[in-house]
Amino acid sequence: MSRHLVLSIIASLVLPSAAVKYTKRANDTDILTYVNPLIGSQKGGNVFAGATLPYGMAKAVADVDGENTGGFSTDDSNITGFSILHDSGTGGNPSLGNFPIFPQICASDDINTCNFPIGARATHYQSDSVVAKPGYFGLTLDNGISADMAVSKHAALFRFDFSGSTTNGSSDPLILLDLTDLWQSRQNASISVDAIEGADSGRIKGNGTFLPSFGAGSYVAYFCLDLSGGAIKDSGVWVNDRAGTEPKNVYITRGFNLFYLQGGGFVRFKEPITGQISARMGISFISTDQACSNAEKEIPGPEYDFDGLVETAQDVWREKLAPVSVKPGNADENLLTSFWSAVYRTMISPQDYSGENPHWQSSEPYFDSFYCLWDMWRVQLPFLTIADPNQQSRIVRSLLDTYKHRGWLPDCSMSTCKGWTQGGSDADNVLVDAYVKNLTGIDWELAYEAIVNDAENEPLEWSIEGRGGLASWKRLNYIPYLDFDPNGFGTNSRSISRTLEYAYNDFNLATLAKGLGKDTYAKYLARATNWQNLFKSDQTSSIDGTDTEFKGFFQPKYLNGTWGFQDPVACSPLAGFCSLTSNPSETFESSAWEYMFFVPHDIRKIVELLGGEETFINRLDFFHSSGLADIGNEPVFLTVYMPHYAGRPGLSAKRVRDYIPSRFNASLPGLPGNDDSGAMASFLLFSTMGLFPNPGQNVYLISPPFFESVSVTNALTNKTATIKNVNYSAGNGTTGSNVWIQNATFNGEPWTKSWIGHEFFTEGGLLELTLGNAESEWGTREEDRPPSMSVGQMETLQM
Ligand SMILES: *[C@@H]1O[C@H](CO)[C@@H](O)[C@H](O)[C@H]1NC(C)=O
Ligand SMILES: *[C@@H]1O[C@H](CO)[C@@H](O)[C@H](O)[C@H]1NC(C)=O
Ligand SMILES: *[C@@H]1O[C@H](CO)[C@@H](O)[C@H](O)[C@H]1NC(C)=O
Ligand SMILES: *[C@@H]1O[C@H](CO)[C@@H](O)[C@H](O)[C@H]1NC(C)=O
Ligand SMILES: *[C@@H]1O[C@H](CO)[C@@H](O)[C@H](O)[C@H]1NC(C)=O
Ligand SMILES: *[C@@H]1O[C@H](CO)[C@@H](O)[C@H](O)[C@H]1NC(C)=O
Ligand SMILES: *[C@@H]1O[C@H](CO)[C@@H](O)[C@H](O)[C@H]1NC(C)=O
Ligand SMILES: *[C@@H]1O[C@H](CO)[C@@H](O)[C@H](O)[C@H]1NC(C)=O
Ligand SMILES: *[C@@H]1O[C@H](CO)[C@@H](O)[C@H](O)[C@H]1NC(C)=O
Ligand SMILES: *[C@@H]1O[C@H](CO)[C@@H](O)[C@H](O)[C@H]1NC(C)=O
Ligand SMILES: *[C@@H]1O[C@H](CO)[C@@H](O)[C@H](O)[C@H]1NC(C)=O
Ligand SMILES: *[C@@H]1O[C@H](CO)[C@@H](O)[C@H](O)[C@H]1NC(C)=O
Repeated sequence: MSRHLVLSIIASLVLPSAAVKYTKRANDTDILTYVNPLIGSQKGGNVFAGATLPYGMAKAVADVDGENTGGFSTDDSNITGFSILHDSGTGGNPSLGNFPIFPQICASDDINTCNFPIGARATHYQSDSVVAKPGYFGLTLDNGISADMAVSKHAALFRFDFSGSTTNGSSDPLILLDLTDLWQSRQNASISVDAIEGADSGRIKGNGTFLPSFGAGSYVAYFCLDLSGGAIKDSGVWVNDRAGTEPKNVYITRGFNLFYLQGGGFVRFKEPITGQISARMGISFISTDQACSNAEKEIPGPEYDFDGLVETAQDVWREKLAPVSVKPGNADENLLTSFWSAVYRTMISPQDYSGENPHWQSSEPYFDSFYCLWDMWRVQLPFLTIADPNQQSRIVRSLLDTYKHRGWLPDCSMSTCKGWTQGGSDADNVLVDAYVKNLTGIDWELAYEAIVNDAENEPLEWSIEGRGGLASWKRLNYIPYLDFDPNGFGTNSRSISRTLEYAYNDFNLATLAKGLGKDTYAKYLARATNWQNLFKSDQTSSIDGTDTEFKGFFQPKYLNGTWGFQDPVACSPLAGFCSLTSNPSETFESSAWEYMFFVPHDIRKIVELLGGEETFINRLDFFHSSGLADIGNEPVFLTVYMPHYAGRPGLSAKRVRDYIPSRFNASLPGLPGNDDSGAMASFLLFSTMGLFPNPGQNVYLISPPFFESVSVTNALTNKTATIKNVNYSAGNGTTGSNVWIQNATFNGEPWTKSWIGHEFFTEGGLLELTLGNAESEWGTREEDRPPSMSVGQMETLQM
């Protein structure tokens, strides 16, 4: 897509319809006042808290030297720079943060008294100065220099105000640029400074090769920085802690023996400065020229319209939030803030890199920062399917275009690189969820081909795409513990969780096969039962030497069919965390206790295998109350709603109120784990809306919303779905409050099922839930429970 087109799309989003909606709302509180981008900016939420457009590539914020995975954190650490590329909510290594710039007043006129290296320049900020709003971020450093920023799609405008500077030294302000990223992964980089003494603006441009924060290979990023706002005094480059006005170019390499070379460029302005120094940064993955033209087209100069950028961004955000509306009832303001901030966070990533794809040419959309689909398929992408279905179609098309050009669907990706696969081939689940929900404009035959490829062909490097152990999967019908797999290479762990995930991938493939009339349907449906081969019915579990008295867990099984052993408690919050590299185990990032519930397509079979409804419910209770459940990571999500499958939907409604607001709230550390692009956000959204998805299936589990009502208008049909509580007094759900559905109606007719399909969103309608203060018979009958593969009703799922 051309940049011109990108601009006209932004423009079209703020044209009359937005203006009308905005006027209509003008009397109400502006919805954006409920968005606090700083929620999750502490204690591991790792959210991106700065300025961005929905799905925008440019994400400007101040970077800190503390918890800086998403750039900024309110953890009271120091600011090291201001940069324009970021990911949101990810774990592990800090992502992106390339080419930070930094303002400074030096101790004297001598350029070598300026603090160039990162450790020397890091400066604390005034904690009460932070302003974070959709499309805007600003703060004041302890030395009185303030900075604020706004963005377009591929460029940012920073303003530095030196008038409050309390530094005792030279009064000529300096802006430096550092050829690094947050993770200090730079392999090599170039810079050239074009800023002539006396001129009223200067340009610094360059490139650098960096490493993806959770993936293979490397990527090249390009920048173009225009500095203006005063007369240029001098300019040049710096290396380590020394700078000079000649030469004007530097090529910097890796350094050696872990000694990271530091270097970049600088421009200094002459006092007096009448206003702010502006720094316009364009960014690209294609070329320096494209970085410059991105900036010139999207943020034209020489006089910049900073306020206009902020207003445009806010209008686009208002428009993005507009399909959803809430009648709060007696819900408090904090819950509204949690809710709207969560809707906002679902649209920060994935990022729309269309027009910036360095790998192949295509007119299809190109999205990146699927970080990772393992985190996103369960709730975030299903949320976009209801709130922004047009974008979700573009996201799905981008996955298919990647398959077309790279031969494999992506599983994880960041900074245009392939990321590490965590479990199954999760894009399969994303595609089939889009299929059962009738998203439009998608080539379903191509989708089928791509998923069959995942199911049948093993790639040489299944650490970055596809699945591993496929020969065993086909021959033995499970992934063996310590598999012998000479066909491809990946981390040879996670045999239990991969077995469970591959089974669900195959179930999804069966769904698509059936829908498209393929005779492979039966074959893949059979493979969808492979999970049963790792169920060890007599396996017990003890905690601190005490038998929990629950029997039956998934266990690893060797190639020869003999059982291995993994303590069911291992990898739970009561034991150590298990990732790909730290403590790799047979279950990924979660315990056998938690994975016992990961069979999204046949939960009724699990109920049966574990000894029936009563034991199942007791087991879920124990799981959630013993510290075994990790609410801060995605595999747990559906377990909250599993009582629906045992005919006890009221217990799901009660359980979720143990977690919201106590673990998901509007405070700065208000997320239980990494937001993971908006996964935590989406758990909160579906839960507080009272409709929880089981993605890949045309199913939403019904529970009372945390508000009087919530409505969503479908962008494809313009129909509005409203879920409403009657006799609502739910408050925070403490004992005695009305969180129990007594009965329900849909468009005035009785609705006895505890679930509803996506037609609710596409066709619209009113789902009214009458609440009372005790569990009722509603949703308990066999025929009213959500479908499972082994117990009827699956026909409704497979179209
Ligand atoms: C909107 O605000 C104006 C002025 O404050 C007031 O007169 C009017 O009644 C309000 N309209 C609604 C629908 O609240
Ligand atoms: C932040 O800077 C202050 C001085 O400005 C210093 O005392 C403190 O140790 C720094 N904190 C970190 C996390 O580097
Ligand atoms: C600034 O520096 C001068 C010269 O070193 C010194 O006399 C003066 O006290 C300093 N002022 C402040 C506010 O630190
Ligand atoms: C920069 O680093 C990348 C990755 O290591 C390498 O492929 C490339 O050749 C290097 N460029 C130069 C000019 O050395
Ligand atoms: C980076 O810039 C330098 C200097 O202009 C140029 O020689 C080099 O080819 C560029 N690297 C890439 C990967 O474009
Ligand atoms: C199966 O293989 C495992 C692991 O190599 C071994 O410990 C076990 O004794 C074998 N079982 C049989 C029955 O050969
Ligand atoms: C808000 O959520 C955080 C993270 O889960 C939790 O630590 C904190 O206790 C919660 N605050 C309240 C008031 O419930
Ligand atoms: C939905 O409404 C918009 C604006 O009112 C209109 O442009 C569009 O054609 C409608 N779409 C459908 C499918 O009715
Ligand atoms: C829930 O609401 C009740 C009644 O308003 C209040 O007493 C209680 O403290 C609240 N609990 C939480 C966890 O907010
Ligand atoms: C729902 O239940 C309430 C209380 O039991 C009852 O008054 C009402 O008639 C019921 N409504 C329907 C549609 O069954
Ligand atoms: C999808 O489209 C088909 C055919 O038009 C329709 O029967 C079905 O109800 C739709 N499903 C959803 C979830 O909208
Ligand atoms: C409304 O809730 C109260 C308890 O708070 C309950 O006694 C009453 O039966 C409920 N009404 C209906 C119609 O269910």
